[in-house]
Amino acid sequence: MSFDELYREQIMDHYKNPRNHGVLENFSFKFFDNNPLCGDEIEIRALVEGNVLKDVRFTGKGCSISQAAASMLTEIVKGKTLAEVQQLNRDNVIELLGIPVGPVRVKCAVLSLVALKNGIAEFHNGVNKNG
Ligand code: FES
Repeated sequence: MSFDELYREQIMDHYKNPRNHGVLENFSFKFFDNNPLCGDEIEIRALVEGNVLKDVRFTGKGCSISQAAASMLTEIVKGKTLAEVQQLNRDNVIELLGIPVGPVRVKCAVLSLVALKNGIAEFHNGVNKNG
C-alpha cells in the first residue's frame, strides 16, 4: 500500500468514525462555521480550564476532507494552550491529512480550524460564554 493510499484510508476512517464527535454540554465557547460554496457545516464546542483546551467536540456535515480534518484536529488540540492552538495554520491541517489538498479543498480542510480559532478569539473577547 502506498503512503497516499494509507492516508486516504485514514481520512475515510476518521470520516466514518469521527473522534470527539458530539455536543459538549459543559463548554466555554462554541463556534459555528460553514462553507457557503457547498453548504457544509461545523460546530465546535470547547471547554477551557486555565489557559488550556480541556475538551473539544464537534458536530457537522460535509465532505470527507472537512469532517476528517475536524476529527483529526480535535485529537491534537486537546491539552494544548489556547495560544498554541492559535498558532496552528492550514499547513498543520494538511500535514494531518497527509495528502495534497488542492485550492478548492483547502477550504474544506481548514473549516474546523477556522471555527476553533474564531471561537477562541471570541472567548478572549468575552463574547460567546456559556451561561
Ligand atoms: Fe464542502 Fe468540502 S465540499 S466542506
